[in-house]
Amino acid sequence: MNIDYSDRIAALLKEMTIDEKIGQLRQCGPSIAGAFEVSFGELLNMMFDGKISKEEFDRLMSTAHQDYREEDIRRGEIGSFNGIGDSATINRLQKIALEESRLGIPLLFGYDVIHGFRTTFPIPLAESCAWDPDLWQRTARAAADEATAAGIHMTFAPMTDVARDARWGRICEGAGEDVLLNSMYGVAKVKGFQTEDLSAPDAMAACIKHFAAYGAVEAGKDYNRVDMSMQKLHEEYLPPYKACIEAGARAVMPAFNDINGVPCSANTWLLQDVLRKEWKFDGMTVSDANAVRELVSHGVAENEAEAAKMAMTAGVDMDMSSDTYRRELKKLVTNGTIPEELLDRAVANILRIKFELGLFDHPYQTDEDRESRTLMKEEYRRLALEAAQKSIVLLKNEGGILPLKKNTKLAVFGKLAKERGQMTGAWAIASKDDECVSLIDALDSCGADYIYDAAGDSIEKSAEAADVLILTLGENKEESGEAASRADIRLKKDDLDIFFRLKQTGKPVVAVLFNGRPLAVPELHDGADAILEAWYPGTEAGTALVQILFGKVNPSAKLTATFPYSTGQCPIYYAHINTGRPGAHSKYSSKYLDTPLDPLYCFGYGLSYTEYEYSNINVSAFGDEIQVTFQIRNIGNTAGDEITQCYIQDTAEERIRPVRQLKAFRRVHLEPGESKTVGYMIPLNDMMYYDWQMNRKLPCGNLKIYVGSDVNAPMYCELSMKEMKVHK
Ligand code: NOJ
Repeated sequence: MNIDYSDRIAALLKEMTIDEKIGQLRQCGPSIAGAFEVSFGELLNMMFDGKISKEEFDRLMSTAHQDYREEDIRRGEIGSFNGIGDSATINRLQKIALEESRLGIPLLFGYDVIHGFRTTFPIPLAESCAWDPDLWQRTARAAADEATAAGIHMTFAPMTDVARDARWGRICEGAGEDVLLNSMYGVAKVKGFQTEDLSAPDAMAACIKHFAAYGAVEAGKDYNRVDMSMQKLHEEYLPPYKACIEAGARAVMPAFNDINGVPCSANTWLLQDVLRKEWKFDGMTVSDANAVRELVSHGVAENEAEAAKMAMTAGVDMDMSSDTYRRELKKLVTNGTIPEELLDRAVANILRIKFELGLFDHPYQTDEDRESRTLMKEEYRRLALEAAQKSIVLLKNEGGILPLKKNTKLAVFGKLAKERGQMTGAWAIASKDDECVSLIDALDSCGADYIYDAAGDSIEKSAEAADVLILTLGENKEESGEAASRADIRLKKDDLDIFFRLKQTGKPVVAVLFNGRPLAVPELHDGADAILEAWYPGTEAGTALVQILFGKVNPSAKLTATFPYSTGQCPIYYAHINTGRPGAHSKYSSKYLDTPLDPLYCFGYGLSYTEYEYSNINVSAFGDEIQVTFQIRNIGNTAGDEITQCYIQDTAEERIRPVRQLKAFRRVHLEPGESKTVGYMIPLNDMMYYDWQMNRKLPCGNLKIYVGSDVNAPMYCELSMKEMKVHK
């Protein structure tokens, strides 16, 4: 691939007026009907400025429709749209741009294709629990096939924000707390969305977000500040974005937040020095929604003109929804405040992507026929089922209550058991509720013997006739995702009340959790017989759950975010560092008085219907790589997939290193009694860290190596850089 479009871009730039150039930088979202014909960004500004109330804002949002501003397209004053997701509209608007605007520059259509399009896959946090890069890539491929069939050219995904605070609602949109997992997840998504040839009609540009460190917002409060050391930023937060850029991601979205006082949308160091110079990124950047204008709210720009100047100078190419560039740039360029070269730089970055996507050469990449043949194909439904099967985590299974025997009489409780639309999670904007399978739907299809008591109105009576009680509970999908932070991540009182009443019946209780973040569920841990963490499993939610409940599928998923005992432990994550007073053994150690030190469920944790045994572990230094090999055997009677994990701790360096860091993993399928040899090669480079002066250093102390089935895997050996000491 890698065609050089600079001549074609330069030729176009020569012909473009300033208005047409600024038009290319403008991305419009859906507009709002009613009393105002304004964009989402403008409406948001009106609320911030006190011109309309929050209630009025909500009312107008609920009447949102697409006002396509066709006149603006004709004048060449729109470069892109966000949020239009059907081929008929997209082709109609594209035709206006191509045939009725002076230069016929095609429009770019972006959309949040986060975990599927019409076919909905598990939310990213759930899918990450599959620890399966091949699956991650296949679901991205399917999503891109569907989305491009609907006319979309770019997705605002993947989100590779390392997220360690369960209060943050957006933890559901990424791969959890780990650096390696977020990197591998992001790379798989980029490959799946973009393929090797971005100009293919089923390829879609990936936009990495939110650059950078959005997952570290203070106190888990959305849009909040981020203040962190440069070392931590480089070691723990930047690597996933970098991995995606190296994998060829063509777009980047600067984050809403500031880092150490400088908003990402105005951060020249981040967007130029790191992204462009160090990482050699030559794609386009697009602001987050309204973020250019929000430089005023942050308090770094005095007014919108200054906001536009700061964002342009830093390198925000496209202005999503705020229209600040449209209002301010012309004046700033004509009076010389912003050199025209800066404007040309942004326009060129956007045109390049349009060329790479093939939009100049074959602008109509789909039609209604392809769209209807592609959306919700049987093949994608099957993939949604596989993804759900691999994403549901078995957290507890006392006395092997699961899998249930075939004719078990069930009583099912909780609204979530029946609500199809709730199964999809925060970002399923193109899914259709009725195409999703709820738990109740799936119980019906397999002819299960059950009673359903949604609100728990007659618990004792319903329970009496049943052998096992199934309680669905957790959060509604609107309670995680953007603008959905929570200060208390315990279960709701109503859910707990039902749970305790169920317990009193003396019948075994299986809890099925639907939620977009780790929840603090000590009551369930103490009292439920079994707990399934279903997250939001997507289109085939119910089918996968019933298969796991009845043992047709053996659960294999493992947590990618730590579950705390209580909200007060947040942020809690496995790769913390040791203080001078680690452990909980003495009064004066680093701990809380009123909550345990350890989490409720650790990173990497998840049960199965079988058991695995690790043996013959061998670790050796192999040039500048560490070679780890071991044998894994299924010692139970059920076939299953084990997610094997390898962690390393680097001790005695110039700066304290995390107590463990995930360095390799593999999902391995094993029939009963079968054993396999697994090998990892871990480059020593993966262990590099930054010293106080920000020099990159290779480890020179001892490395402790851990191999096993979760982050608490026992240490196998210690490897010094000179000699290897094995502790067996
Ligand atoms: C705001 C969100 O932060 C971002 O993730 C999303 O892609 C944009 N809105 C566009 O919808």
